[in-house]
Formats: sequence, structure tokens, C-alpha cells
Amino acid sequence: MSMQTSVDRLLPNLVTPLPGPKARSIIERDTKIMSPSYTRGYPFVMGRGEGAIVEDVDGNRFLDFNAGIAVVAAGHAHPRIVAAIQRQAAQFLHMSGTDFYYENMVRLAEKLATLVPGDGPQRVYFGNSGTEAIEAAIKMARYHSGRDQFIAFFGGFHGRTMGALSLTGSKAVQRKGFGPMLPVQHVTYAYCYRCAYGQHPDTCHVECVKVIEDRLFKTILPAEEVAAIVVEPIQGEGGYLVPPPKFHEELRRIADKYGILLIHDEVQSGMGRTGRMFASEHFGVAPDIVTIAKGIASGLPLAATVARADIMDWKPGAHASTFGGNPVAVEAALATIELLEEDLLSNATEIGAHILGRIQSWPQRFRYVGDVRGIGLMIGFELVKDQESKERAPELRNQLVHLAFERGLLILGCGQNSIRLCPPLVITKDQADFAIDTLEQCLDVISAT
Ligand SMILES: Cc1ncc(COP(=O)(O)O)c(C=O)c1O
Repeated sequence: MSMQTSVDRLLPNLVTPLPGPKARSIIERDTKIMSPSYTRGYPFVMGRGEGAIVEDVDGNRFLDFNAGIAVVAAGHAHPRIVAAIQRQAAQFLHMSGTDFYYENMVRLAEKLATLVPGDGPQRVYFGNSGTEAIEAAIKMARYHSGRDQFIAFFGGFHGRTMGALSLTGSKAVQRKGFGPMLPVQHVTYAYCYRCAYGQHPDTCHVECVKVIEDRLFKTILPAEEVAAIVVEPIQGEGGYLVPPPKFHEELRRIADKYGILLIHDEVQSGMGRTGRMFASEHFGVAPDIVTIAKGIASGLPLAATVARADIMDWKPGAHASTFGGNPVAVEAALATIELLEEDLLSNATEIGAHILGRIQSWPQRFRYVGDVRGIGLMIGFELVKDQESKERAPELRNQLVHLAFERGLLILGCGQNSIRLCPPLVITKDQADFAIDTLEQCLDVISAT
């Protein structure tokens, strides 16, 4: 990598106008050949990465405050992840885990079974992506329960294959033209900042969640036909929303009362992102099935659906995937988990608290920042037209993303008008401070216009 060994090696450094000439030419080719369904916000073309720093093809260095897209938990090209991948690649790359056996897949499953919240024996199914983990959970819930209906949440994102898409309630464009969907009823997620019932953490769950029992079950959806409630412990794509614990407690209560399975989608919030292995640990509520992907293998494609052993009772042939549990990805996951347990979980807690501590006052300091929320390194904030009306300001959010890019900071939006901060869990305090200082400069620019 062409990064110098000077002290600021770990901070951004821009050497060409953006995009640079090589980036420009790759983007031109990309535009002609790639699926137009992708949603690129700004012209960053990856060359190489190290930790939280990424260098584009023209030698410009950026701070990656997205971890790809909440994926590279251990940062880019962590030497121990790379060594694990290389070691395994030299042994064997594939030996279909659905038809044969290999030891590291068993070892990872045993490890995950000890990590997921909940008592009693667990079983593990491996796939390749978040959406596959969700498909497995959907099929498992139907198979085990003999029921066919689902409850999910507005703003929820669970993936884009047909089953997962039916649960997704994030953006209309993601569903437009793809119906019909599976039978899913969407209900309101606990979005405290925009809560119609007055943001009271002790009571809002009553209004948010009770609609399921009091309205849905009594009018259009017989409870005994519902296979599962599918919920993100912290809503990701929908805006990095942290619900009050009672929201999750109440979902657990309803699930238990009506014999419905509770599926926690931890694809984005799991594997250390919040400073705990799983976000649900912050709420003290254990699911029946948990889906895992993004952070698990620090960048290699791997997903897991982990369920109570009595729930994963399907028969041979019922579900499988050629590539699921690929041995190279499994080694990357085992190395990632080691790093998480050594120090990345505590780093996520510490640096996350530092970031939140610095930005919590933004709504008082910047008139366009409406709300700041998060746990660990899963932090979001909202751009609004003004504090009183809380009217969403997606155009200001997009402007902020571009201003940050021009200053060497990569961030992404989420929800209609929010920014997500989800850096690799190896982020240092200096890097976090660079990001916050840069965002404050950008907010000053926006406030001045
Ligand atoms: C909570 C959640 N579930 C599922 C998915 C889908 O994952 P993938 O894109 O790997 O299919 C995502 C992706 O953003 C997600 O955030």
C-alpha cells in the first residue's frame, strides 16, 4: 500500500480532485455494464484497505466510517483474518458442507451456539448472505409451526430475495414491481423520536406493540396462523433506531402467549457492532431464532441462522446451500470471533461511548440535527428542516454525505433522513475524533447555507 509511515498514516489524505482519473474511468465502465439497481451515493472506487483506512485507485486515503456496509468488523485486511484465509485456502476451498463434513464448520457452529442469547441446545444452518439467513428462518418457522403468516415492522430491512423482501418494510422502491409477496403484516416499530404517543419509554411499547394483540389478532390476523414475528433488535437500514427495552419484552410476551416464534434479525446489529456480541443482549430478551451475516467473517460472505434445537427440526433435504459455510469464510469467522472476544467488543463499547458523548449535544448546537441515538458503534443521527417541526430533510442528509466524502470521510445514509455511523470495530479514538470534527465542519457548512 502506498500509505506513508508518517504519524497520520491512519488518517485521510486526498491527493487528486474527486473522483480521480482512474476512478472516473472505472465508473464510466461500471455505468455501462453493471446492474442499474445498485445505489451508489458518491464516486469512491476501492483500491485497498487497512483497518479503518481505505485508499482509492488514485491513491486518495479515506476514513471508512461504514465498514463497507457494516461488514468488516475487524477492519480491512486484518493480518490475522488474512492469515486465516490464506491458511485455509491452501488446504481446500470447498467441499460442500451439505453433502460432506469438515471440522472447522462444526467448530464455528459450536462456538455460535455458545454465543447466541438463550438457554438450551441450539442448532446452526449456514448460508452466504443476510437474505439467505432470513430465508432459512422463514422456512424453518413455517416448517416447525405449520403456520404461514408473519408479522414484521415498518422500516425493517431483511433482504431482497422474495421471502425476505416480503418482510422488508423499508423503502417502496425495494418492493415496487416484485409482488405478490408472502403474507406479512407490518406494524409500527418503536421510533421514539417520532412516536405519536409521546416518547415515554415506560408506556410507548404499550401503544406500539399492543396493536398486534388488540387490533391485528382481533380483526384481520388470527394469532394461531402466525408463524413468527421478525424484528431487528436495533433497526438498521430503517434509521439506526434503538427501541426501549420494553418493546422487545412485550414482543417476547406476545410470542410466548400465542405460540409464535420470535426471530431476531441481527444481520446488521450482531457480531459485536453494539459492543455486545448480539444487540438483543442490551434488552435482555432472547429470541427463538437469530439471523447473522454482515460482521461475522469480516468481509467474506457467510451467514448463519441459529435456532433452538427443538425448532430446527426439519428433515434431510428440507433446506441446504452449495456454498453455505464455505471453509475459507468459516476460518475468517473463527478469527473474527477471537478478535471480538480479545478486544474489539470492548473497543466498540469504549469508542462508541466516546462518539456518542461528543455528538449527543448536536441537536442543541446544530439546528438541522434532530436526533442522535445508538449503542456501541451503531450510531445514527437525523437531519431535519427545523427542530420544532422535525420535518425530515433528506436533501440535507445527502448534502452532508457528499461534503464528508470531499473531506476524506466515507459515511452512508439510512432511513429517509438519517446518517449511520458504523465504522470497523478496530477504529481508534483519533480516527473517531477526525470523523466527528469533519462532520462538525460539514454541519457548519450546511448551517451557513
Ligand atoms: C438487518 C438486515 N437483515 C438482512 C439484510 C440483508 O443482507 P444481505 O444484503 O447480505 O442479503 C440486511 C442488509 O443490509 C440487514 O441490514
